[in-house]
Amino acid sequence: MSSRGLEGVVATESAISAITDGRLVYRGIPVETAVNEGSFAEVAWLLWHGRLPTQAQLGHLEDHLASAGELPRDVVTRLRGLPPTTPMLVALREGVGALALTPQSLNLQSSNLQSSSLQSSSLQSSNPHSSAVRLVGALPAIAAQFYHVAEGRPLFAPRVSGSLAARFLHAVRGEVPPPQEARALDQALILYADHELNASTFAARVVASTLADMYSAVIAALCTLKGPLHGGATAEVWRFLASIESPADAASRVDAALEAGQRIPGFGHRVYRGPDPRALVFRQLAARVGGQQRWLPTADAVAEAVYARKGLYPNTDLYSVVFLQALEFDIELATAVFALGRMAGWTAHILEQYANNRLIRPRAQYTGPEAAEWTPIGQRG
Ligand code: CMC
Repeated sequence: MSSRGLEGVVATESAISAITDGRLVYRGIPVETAVNEGSFAEVAWLLWHGRLPTQAQLGHLEDHLASAGELPRDVVTRLRGLPPTTPMLVALREGVGALALTPQSLNLQSSNLQSSSLQSSSLQSSNPHSSAVRLVGALPAIAAQFYHVAEGRPLFAPRVSGSLAARFLHAVRGEVPPPQEARALDQALILYADHELNASTFAARVVASTLADMYSAVIAALCTLKGPLHGGATAEVWRFLASIESPADAASRVDAALEAGQRIPGFGHRVYRGPDPRALVFRQLAARVGGQQRWLPTADAVAEAVYARKGLYPNTDLYSVVFLQALEFDIELATAVFALGRMAGWTAHILEQYANNRLIRPRAQYTGPEAAEWTPIGQRG
């Protein structure tokens, strides 16, 4: 018997993250500990290497992330050539596609293939790790660059010091962000960094299992993230909350949506049937950064109404949107943040797939006709 949506199917082994009894851990460390104690760069290193970096390793990594944020001219040109109405996740995919074609990336990819002779073990060389660092470091710059393209503005000169989140905020706003906002965004990226075998990570692993390069696998992940049942839910939540005038209107808005047979964005989860632990932390971040804003009590009222009617809890998207709106992001920029964090997890999973590869090629249960005739074209009705 097949399982629709592979629900409950254990499709691979992974040592990167786990969801057990409603708790999320990265390499054995509870996500809440990582958020409270760590930086996003440390978490990326942890996901890639399975251990925390030393001070020297962290410094080295931060330098490389910063230099990856200085985008090659061809990438900027590609982003500037996109229609301003391009959805952010499409722009990110285009930016990664352009990055893959720069001489530096092509050298990395071809040396992977030459040295490997398509043997997975040799793909463990340092090159895929370099690509991973490059992708994590470049994606915020791609998002910020396209944000300005869409708004018809030139890009601010990239700032090279500070955390990846601080550089991103600076690139978006054109001014040094308050440290508490940069820290909160860094923590949000940690929350997004990995989530076991979610749909986009699975897509990335399928591509990596053919021994295609890391850029191709990441583009597949970005395409998968775009759908409203996954990262596209961010935009849906945004529109839903924006459509509610005051917290007092939340319950009737929920009723109207449910009566129309719609799902409430930001609720429900394939794996968590109880609370999503990330939602609780996102709510804290939202309260810390934008406690006076209208959207937090509205989201709380929606959560109360959905729980009362469906017994469903908020997933990560409900309060992440409240948080990102409090940071004065717009809907498109908010959509990018999930990808900026998850890039760490995608690349970690791609590395893990390369390190112990077996082509992912499942079977399908055939439900078509047993035997059918080939009707000549002139006789078809
Ligand atoms: N609103 C209303 N009802 C819902 C919702 C929702 N958001 N989510 C699930 N349900 C209902 C569903 O209709 C079903 O009810 P019934 O048994 O009466 O038919 C029941 O809950 C079980 O749902 P399911 O279809 O078995 O759940 P699933 O595992 O296939 O879906 C999901 C998981 C995330 C796709 C779904 O909850 C959903 O569509 N949520 C809204 C979109 C969303 O917020 N996505 C972000 C997911 S978390 C971040 C990420 O990973 O991207």
